[in-house]
Amino acid sequence: MSAPTDEALLAGVPTGLHVDGAWRDAEGGRRFEVTDPATGDGLASVADASPADGLAALAAAERAQEEWARTPARARGEILRRGFEAVTARSEEFARLITMEMGKPLAESRAEVAYGAEFLRWFSEEAPRVAGRYATAPDGANRLMVQKRPVGPCLLITPWNFPIAMATRKVAPAVAAGCTVVLKPADLTPLTSLLLTQVLVDAGLPPGVLNVVTTTDPAALSGPLLSDHRLRKLSFTGSTPVGRRLMAAAAERVLKVSMELGGNAPFLVCEDADVDAAVEGAVVAKMRNGGEACVAANRILVHRSVAEEFTEKLTARLSGFVTGPGSEPATTLGPLIDERSRRKVAGLVDDAVSAGARVLTGGRVPEGPGYFYPPTVLTDVRADMAIVQQEIFGPVAPVLVFDDEHEAVRSANSSEFGLVSFVFTRDLDRALRLSERLESGMVGINTGVVSNPAAPFGGVKASGLGREGGVEGIEEYLETVYVGIRDPFATERGR
Ligand code: SIN
Repeated sequence: MSAPTDEALLAGVPTGLHVDGAWRDAEGGRRFEVTDPATGDGLASVADASPADGLAALAAAERAQEEWARTPARARGEILRRGFEAVTARSEEFARLITMEMGKPLAESRAEVAYGAEFLRWFSEEAPRVAGRYATAPDGANRLMVQKRPVGPCLLITPWNFPIAMATRKVAPAVAAGCTVVLKPADLTPLTSLLLTQVLVDAGLPPGVLNVVTTTDPAALSGPLLSDHRLRKLSFTGSTPVGRRLMAAAAERVLKVSMELGGNAPFLVCEDADVDAAVEGAVVAKMRNGGEACVAANRILVHRSVAEEFTEKLTARLSGFVTGPGSEPATTLGPLIDERSRRKVAGLVDDAVSAGARVLTGGRVPEGPGYFYPPTVLTDVRADMAIVQQEIFGPVAPVLVFDDEHEAVRSANSSEFGLVSFVFTRDLDRALRLSERLESGMVGINTGVVSNPAAPFGGVKASGLGREGGVEGIEEYLETVYVGIRDPFATERGR
């Protein structure tokens, strides 16, 4: 059978709000346009939810909560497992949709679908493993029973850079734990979440368990939800400034929050590193998702003794990238998400250059449609430049030089962010020393990718709170309840 055309594929994606098991229009029939970042052309028009639509979704989630929490964990897991099978069977459709709305090359979209589907499988397996404990108090008398229960209706806010994986990384553990959900995907890339919702509903999610609201005014929608007593949890992936505002709003009701925020990952190449392996690691850590990832290597710190060789090889590798629309087979770097992002990336590069940095490749906004920016390597970069202090979110690799391990650690830790650090070294002691000294929630040793559905993803400092994935991921959606029980032998003992 031949693959559906883009038009046929888009025609199969729901474009309404999903509330209480049904697709419906937004209040007043408002809609917005989703565009292709490779061309700027419109792809589809999607319902633009009002605050009242958001509250209707929360009401549906609240109505479904009790029964969903009582649904056996095995049954919840089996629905997620069927979701995994269905996403995998339709992976090509999902990959094409991701490339259309987000821009990344098809090969990367396929990898994202596999990564995203894996959260459904992982949490389908975690659902029945939620456990409590029963213990005797240290004095040998009362019994302590500790149980886990779902926190309740959750607002899940996902970003545009990994349209399926960031949705499954939140929805799967929430649903596995027995929580109902209001999902608000990014307005730049809502189509993947809408198709995912249909797939999960077809897999058996009952009405009200997964509600989806798309909107161009996220602050207006989330405000009333965060102050509504029916909402019990907020999980957000996005920028640190927005995360701070959401946390401040959530503080009013002492709402449980998980925050997966910005990063500014240091990538350390030590004097004893395998330089070729470090270059390949840097290519993936920098260029995965075109640098539009919170785990992207942002500051490449290289020991002076290998700096020249490393920088030359990195420049050669990055110059070999083929920039173009993600749907073209030869493309290895797609466009940035929008003009605002491109302006920011170009502005950081221009600012660094005017402060003394040298461009070894790239560095210039190309002519033509789409929001393309070339792979760029900068050298003679200093720690006080904005490009080193801010998250770049683009295909730009600033290289800085260090002379000893202490200086490298000081420089790596000198950021308010602490999501991930990467270290390339052949010395085991050094690798372990650095992994203990670097202030980040994740450390990659001799690898440029740490993301894995079986691992706890998350940061320290201004990079966030909580973990997604791994055995830790489901905990974010569970409450601990302790029941104290009188000593069952008390009567026998005459007490
Ligand atoms: C992100 O950029 O927010 C997530 C990246 C990942 O899961 O690898």
